[in-house]
Amino acid sequence: MTKVGIEKMAFFTSGYYIGMDELAKSRQEDPNKYKIGIGQMQQSVIPASQDVVTLAANASDRILTAADKEKITMVVFGTETGVDNSKAASMYLQELLGLRKEARAFEVKQACYGATAGVQMAIDYLTLHPDEKVLVIGADIARYGLQTAGEVTQGGGAVSMLLSTNPKIVEFEGKSSFHSENIMDFWRPLYKKEAVVDGHYSTNVYIDFFSKTFDDFQTKYSMTVNDFKAFAFHLPYTKMGLKALKTILPESNNVDGLLSEFEASKKYSAEVGNLYTGSLYLSLMSLIANSKTLQVGDRIGLFSYGSGAQGEFFSAKVIADDEARTVIKNQVDELLAKRDSLTTPEYENMYTESLTADSNDHQNDSLPDTAKFTFGGVKNDKRLYKRFGEIIE
Ligand code: HMG
Repeated sequence: MTKVGIEKMAFFTSGYYIGMDELAKSRQEDPNKYKIGIGQMQQSVIPASQDVVTLAANASDRILTAADKEKITMVVFGTETGVDNSKAASMYLQELLGLRKEARAFEVKQACYGATAGVQMAIDYLTLHPDEKVLVIGADIARYGLQTAGEVTQGGGAVSMLLSTNPKIVEFEGKSSFHSENIMDFWRPLYKKEAVVDGHYSTNVYIDFFSKTFDDFQTKYSMTVNDFKAFAFHLPYTKMGLKALKTILPESNNVDGLLSEFEASKKYSAEVGNLYTGSLYLSLMSLIANSKTLQVGDRIGLFSYGSGAQGEFFSAKVIADDEARTVIKNQVDELLAKRDSLTTPEYENMYTESLTADSNDHQNDSLPDTAKFTFGGVKNDKRLYKRFGEIIE
């Protein structure tokens, strides 16, 4: 069978975050509810100068060479924070990155599952077209609203993945179990910028879908929890992944090992918050970068969940050697270390401004944004993007 997997991956988020001590104090909550009960330490705050296109472009720009761009014949953009009801975000991305035009470029939506749909599509495509490469994006801005129960689980950013038949990070095994059902746990009607959520119900459905898909996977492939060295989960908040993991620990003969791998996998999400489509892949990056024990050849299990709802459990083998792991670690650690922290009023202003960032005929320049790609505003119903601060005509 053709070997297919992730050759390169990169993460990008905004230069701003709010700490959970600060948010808890402003919401008259015990900080331990946010830090231990929910499992979040910081939350990325996305200013009006970034949208999913620029988040994705800034992430992708960190990894793609001219030779990669020549080989990319499919661009799949997973998002539930689309910038247009008709046009796919991948079209803007293709231009910003200078990708070749002889490509299929489109957007995929199913809540937080979109990027996984892209990954699975890419695996099938590359099996038939082994000389080509596929760019898969998971980019979102998670918004629940100020002073809501979901506020502590907001966040945003993009993970960009280059899939090919020359994987350097993980190789997919082509083994997968999935489950879908019409469920009202979390959704965002067309007229809303913020999600509608039945929070406690959504956590129960997440666990239920994890159990269904993991049980099916074990039966289908005659495996048990003990065939996995680690698991990476979609992490809407890090305690959610821990709750799912705990349901399978009674069958494990390596409980401490799995818990310690989980600590490694949740590190980045605890500092960024929910990425929606990118979340599972940020946990994968975090696991690869921060695990002290993961070895080349180890099998990991990945659980993707998108409300509404779609679940998928699939497996991969680690390929990243120490050098590849250090590259990922340095890349994400440096990005997170250079962010500025916000007070609650600063966060609230930035949040409120970003809600109106899509209105017609305006420029987004209230704050300096040093990222290479920024969203410049809207003119005559057309989105304006900037490269190094200059509008791209
Ligand atoms: P809440 O009702 O404010 O919190 O909302 P709670 O009262 O349930 O407390 C949360 C936890 O903190 C509890 O622990 C408390 O015991 C603990 P648990 O019982 O869960 O283990 N706690 C404390 N711990 C230490 N010290 C304290 C303390 N006080 C309380 N002093 C909720 C929580 C997650 C429901 C809310 O934030 C929410 O609605 N979030 C958004 C929905 C969500 O993230 N759902 C996850 C599953 S759905 C999903 O993953 C899909 C999604 O990503 C969207 C997509 O697919 O596009 C969301």
